[in-house]
Amino acid sequence: MKTKARIIPIASTPKAVPLSTHDLAPLDGPLLDRRDRRVRDLRISVTDRCNFRCVYCMPKEVFGHDHAFLPRAELLSFEEIGRIARIFVDQGVEKIRITGGEPLLRRHIENLIEQLAKLPVELTLTTNGSLLVKKAQALKDAGLKRVTVSLDGIDDAVFKRMNDVDYPVSDVLDGIAAAAAAGLAPIKVNCVVKRGSNDDQILPLARHFRNSGHILRFIEFMDVGTSNGWRMDEVLPSADVIARINAEFPLEAIDANYPGEVAERWRYKDGAGEIGVISSVTQAFCSSCTRIRLSTEGQLYTCLFAQSGHDLRDMLRKGAGNEQLRRVIAAVWRERDDRYSEIRTAATALPGGPGKIEMSYIGG
Ligand code: GTP
Ligand code: 5AD
Ligand code: SF4
Ligand code: SF4
Repeated sequence: MKTKARIIPIASTPKAVPLSTHDLAPLDGPLLDRRDRRVRDLRISVTDRCNFRCVYCMPKEVFGHDHAFLPRAELLSFEEIGRIARIFVDQGVEKIRITGGEPLLRRHIENLIEQLAKLPVELTLTTNGSLLVKKAQALKDAGLKRVTVSLDGIDDAVFKRMNDVDYPVSDVLDGIAAAAAAGLAPIKVNCVVKRGSNDDQILPLARHFRNSGHILRFIEFMDVGTSNGWRMDEVLPSADVIARINAEFPLEAIDANYPGEVAERWRYKDGAGEIGVISSVTQAFCSSCTRIRLSTEGQLYTCLFAQSGHDLRDMLRKGAGNEQLRRVIAAVWRERDDRYSEIRTAATALPGGPGKIEMSYIGG
């Protein structure tokens, strides 16, 4: 029977914008977009699948048993990803993040890591941590520098409610320990905060990760995609997160590690380490956004909230040369004018609004 879930993949894998020869602009001058932003950070989604069903990302009602994930032939091969990544590095990319879905579900992911680790970039990966016990050492050996682990609660019942597949928190904590033992540091731990769902975990998480050397970060719940039922009243502003922690453990703001860093950094005054907040709803950071995303099937997206991508896979599979790819990529970046988080309104965030891409498809 055709269900609602069948409709969603169409919205989440939108039609590509065709690229024609007029896009082949010459490569002169620095590569800047229309808002004078450089391309510095490439995020590559290697699978649209995940073994979790986080309520804010892949709600079960939408990503149910009959959900149509991408067939394997649609995925970019590691060789294709490597080719595109090298071109981006030539264009100024300094950091590559592997994402998903859950990237560690992609078979032989360490082979891709090994390939990308040869590039002069900071190579990192975002994971839900469920496979880290098994894979942390192999990832390190392949050349991965560090990992970011998602963790939306420290209380087992809350964590299970957030991942919605009954996955125990102790396994993810073991995964974090395995990553630390393998030297994938500094480890960042990301918690998406949904007011009324897991905001009671803010202080317990802070207590748990103080003095651990890991950097805990709280992310405002965002209206990515069209299926997570986002509502503004479920966003807990980062300012409130900081106020709650500061009341128990005094904090002071510290400088960004690099211009355009997404997280705002804070340090415990007693020397117990640092935390971060990512406030893409209450304090948009589009003006310094240097990120570009390559989807699982080779679409290039210039914004997390984009409605369409640029099809690089088709070019690759039709035999495009590196120079042609380089020019198209440069043309896409030069045309970029995105600033969704700065212009977000209640209407754009509603399911009836623009058909935005799902985070599990485009990469976090
Ligand atoms: P590092 O500093 O290298 O650890 O990277 P980062 O700060 O970019 O962190 P990470 O890639 O883990 O991003 C953390 C979260 O911030 C993501 O999972 C998203 O929820 C959010 N985020 C990252 N990039 C963007 C972006 O370009 N736009 C928006 N709106 N949110 C983003
Ligand atoms: N809002 C904020 N962050 C999200 N992520 C996924 N969906 C959302 C959302 N709706 C982030 C989580 C996860 C990463 C892969 O993407 O931080 O750790
Ligand atoms: Fe999976 Fe990450 Fe999305 Fe959770 S946030 S469902 S772990 S891809
Ligand atoms: Fe960048 Fe788009 Fe996020 Fe703004 S909303 S920070 S332009 S990805």
